[in-house]
Amino acid sequence: MNDPHLWWYVSRASAMIAWALLTTSVLWGILLSTRVMRRVDNPAWLQDLHGYLGGTSLVMVGLHMVSLMIDSWLSFTVAEVLVPFATAFKPLPVALGILAFYLLVAVQGSSLMLKRLPRKFWKGLHYASYATLLLVSFHAGFTGTDVGSLWYRIVSIALILLAALAVILRIIAGKRSGSARQADAAPGGAPVQPVPRTMVVASATGLAHGIVGIRLKLPDGGMLPVWQPGSHVTLHLPNGLQKQYSLCGDPANRNQYDVAVLRTSQSSGGSSWIHENLVPGMSLPVSGPMNHFELEPAADYLFIAGGIGITPITAMIQSLPAGRAWRLVYAGRSRQTMAFVAELEAEYPQRMIVHASDENVGGLDLDVILGTVTAQVYCCGPESLMNAVAARVPAGRLHLERFVPLERSARPAAPIQVACRKSRLDFTVPAEESLLDALESHGVPILGSCRKGICGTCEVRVVEGTPEHLDSVLDDAEKDALGVMYPCVSRSLSASLVLNI
Ligand code: FES
Repeated sequence: MNDPHLWWYVSRASAMIAWALLTTSVLWGILLSTRVMRRVDNPAWLQDLHGYLGGTSLVMVGLHMVSLMIDSWLSFTVAEVLVPFATAFKPLPVALGILAFYLLVAVQGSSLMLKRLPRKFWKGLHYASYATLLLVSFHAGFTGTDVGSLWYRIVSIALILLAALAVILRIIAGKRSGSARQADAAPGGAPVQPVPRTMVVASATGLAHGIVGIRLKLPDGGMLPVWQPGSHVTLHLPNGLQKQYSLCGDPANRNQYDVAVLRTSQSSGGSSWIHENLVPGMSLPVSGPMNHFELEPAADYLFIAGGIGITPITAMIQSLPAGRAWRLVYAGRSRQTMAFVAELEAEYPQRMIVHASDENVGGLDLDVILGTVTAQVYCCGPESLMNAVAARVPAGRLHLERFVPLERSARPAAPIQVACRKSRLDFTVPAEESLLDALESHGVPILGSCRKGICGTCEVRVVEGTPEHLDSVLDDAEKDALGVMYPCVSRSLSASLVLNI
């Protein structure tokens, strides 16, 4: 502690460590956010590592700044450390470093508040990480008192090359994902409106009794946007109906979208039209994919599928690394009505419980199945099954996808004063009109699809006011955390709403 250069050493060491951590954090974040690590087992702690690296780099920057003030030779003042151009010592490079510090604080702070911020805002701010790296490189290259030494040059060149590699990877990945942002952005992203693209029916095959599997491709056979397990697309049928179907199959296959359609007795005209009219070679507008049933990183999963609810689950299973712990409970009326049952059983005999009603006397015993389970539970199927699962699994571990609207109690409808911030429009929505209809009739750029609060197409961000969530898309708390609502069915608890549209 008596070495007069101690704080100088601390200042240099903390600066270099911060630079290295920041570079690694950016590179790591890019690997996680792109397809580079798709096939790698990618549990939550690997994702957290990105945040820890960034957070620790900020701590190191803090130590660097404090040691600059304590060091008896440099003895920076607080103002010189925090205010650009307040010092006479290499003012420009020091100012760049100070700017980098503020950007780093903003990036880290926004990540801590990720659940409270609109995802688009957080994402935009997160891109400032690249600017931070650039500023840090200039700062470190022109400020240090030992910039001319060989070791410093070697470390600097290595870090700058790594940073350049990160940027190149990001650019390549960005181009490859193309218009896939739509799927990535939801939920909670900016309300990216799905513009239908024309697709061709490549095949229509029976998958089980009453279920047809449809393969859709682009007319030129080109690559389709990336999709994540749990995503759905909307088929725009010639009879005017828009129907949502979960994507099944392998998300890594970018040349086709596969959906499976069950013919239902209560069909509103969608599934029956598809079963009776859809043939290979037919063109169809298709929008999406969108995802409100995301597979979050976890160490262990329990999938519960009822009937056609198996479709998003197959994609989830296919996307998991071989070593991941998971089990599937698949229930249906009979094996003849259960799509993919034979393939799944053949491939994963140890991981599956198949419950066909015609083979079992009693129903599915959820108390036994869920009794000691601590896994993340993903369930898709009939309402009765999802309600029974929801009654036994805590909300924090439960993930449901609904294709039938929940029955929700609403207050008596009242007029709402609505302000659309981007469109600069202000109007009153009468009690008898839906918010989505009113937005459309005033020319606000918004699309609706299901108009029942299940598909998520009409998502809009709420800037002010308290929405009355009446949809079935996400958990209400999740919607509030993301600051979104679905105006096709939802209304307002406050007299007015300000929407970011
Ligand atoms: S249009 Fe489907 S949720 Fe609103």
